Parts: sequence; C-alpha cells; structure tokens
Amino acid sequence: MEKLKFVHLTDTHMNAPGADNPFAKLNLADKVKRVFEHVNAASVKPAFVVITGDLTHEGNVQDYEYIRSIVDEGSALLGVPVHVVLGNHDHRAPFREGFLKEAPSEQAYYYSHTIQGFRLIGLNSQVKGQHHGEIDAEQLAWLEETLSTPAEHGTIVALHHPMLNINGMPGDHVLANREQLGNVLEGTDVIGVVAGHVHTNNVGTYKGICHVAATGTAFGGEAAEDNHFKMVDFCGYNVVSVYEEGVTVQTIVMPGMQDEFFRFPVEALMAHN
Ligand SMILES: [Fe+2]
Ligand SMILES: [Fe+2]
Repeated sequence: MEKLKFVHLTDTHMNAPGADNPFAKLNLADKVKRVFEHVNAASVKPAFVVITGDLTHEGNVQDYEYIRSIVDEGSALLGVPVHVVLGNHDHRAPFREGFLKEAPSEQAYYYSHTIQGFRLIGLNSQVKGQHHGEIDAEQLAWLEETLSTPAEHGTIVALHHPMLNINGMPGDHVLANREQLGNVLEGTDVIGVVAGHVHTNNVGTYKGICHVAATGTAFGGEAAEDNHFKMVDFCGYNVVSVYEEGVTVQTIVMPGMQDEFFRFPVEALMAHN
C-alpha cells in the first residue's frame, strides 16, 4: 500500500527575466512552470514537492523574489507545500532576503517538516564560494538529535550534493563528508535521500538507504567527444512513492529536442554543475 508520494525537482537554475547570464537567456523558469503544470495535468497528486538546489544561477535578491513567485504559483496550483534546499550556485543572503523574506544572513538553511506523518529534512550542503558540498558540524549535531526521535512513517532527507559516485563523472561532485553524514543517517528511520547537482539520474543505495540524484529541470549533462562535456536541452522530474515494502522512483521526461546548449572541456566541469 502506498503511504506517501512526492515530487522531486532539482537544479532549476532560474533567474529573473532580463538577468545578465547565459542561463537567464534560456528562460529556465518557464520549464519549472511547465513541470508544475505537467504534475497537475498528470494527476500525480503528491503530498509535497521538494527542489534540491541550484534554484538560481548565481542569483541576487531580485532572482530569489522571482523564484519565490514561481514556487508559490506551483504550490497554489498543486495545493501542496514546495520546499527547497540550497545548491552551490545559490547564495544564502539573497535567498534569505528574496525568497524567505527575512533579514539577509549567511546562516545555513536547514529544516525539518512533518507532512502526513512523514518527516522531510532539508540540509544545506552548499559552502559559500565553493563548488564542493559538505554538511557542517552544527547541522550534523542537529540532525543526530532530530533523528533520535523517529517520525510516524519515516524520514526523507533532501540535499544538493549527492552521496553516490556518478559513473564517469570527474570532479568533486560527491558530498565531501558523505561518510560522516552516512554514519548519522545509518540505523535511523531515514528511508530515502534525494539530491541533485549532477544533472543526470543516478539511483542506488548508500549505507543501505535509497539514494536518488535527479536530472533536473534546467538542462541535462552528457559526456561528449574529445574530453568535453555538454549541457543539452532536457527537463524532467521524479515521482518518489513510499510503500509499506519500500521506495520506487519514477522518472518523468518532459518533451524536448535535447539540443546542445553548451560544450566545454571536462576540466571546466566544476564550474558548471
Ligand atoms: Fe550544483
Ligand atoms: Fe546544477
């Protein structure tokens, strides 16, 4: 019997209209709007939506205000909460000011919400000014304390940097202190971890826990010839269903031509995930 279903989006890389960067010209917010419409039209009826980071592409306050309006529209359309975490292309101070509507600060953004007996924990793996990700000691201590009391139906953890290696992908895409985080999660009521950052679907287990990195709504990443990497026009989302007996992940691919957006040497990959 299905206990809960939620929609996982990631790497939306949105900017406000008119923002001056190559990603802004691709109107990536339109893709997120289409995803919300698709979820609604397909009658997925999730309990919540979670977006696992790289909400913006180097966003400022105006970008986060705009993204908040997109997220609020999606939340109203589906009639469910939309929760977010931060990625390496996000910035804490403008996120707090533009998205959360509070005083700007560099305070890490992490939380625990209970939805229909499930606990959704969002972690902040983004490190100021860095491409790599890690969970700081304060969050690890908070997480350990939080998980010491099980939720009624179990816990889902959302973060940007994945804990699993991606076959053939160079660079420091994996969470730097995944072992530490894994040790905190192991043996608790956590039934799934959802992540992004790698712009490709990658599903497996870590410490025996289901772990999913999703492809994202903005673009897909693919290896190209001559040691290059390319970003192609791609958009998708995952429907994660939790059953008595386990978790399933359904990957939804939105219609698109998979045209190439950018291509760059593999060494430059760290700047583009
Ligand atoms: Fe990222
Ligand atoms: Fe990304």
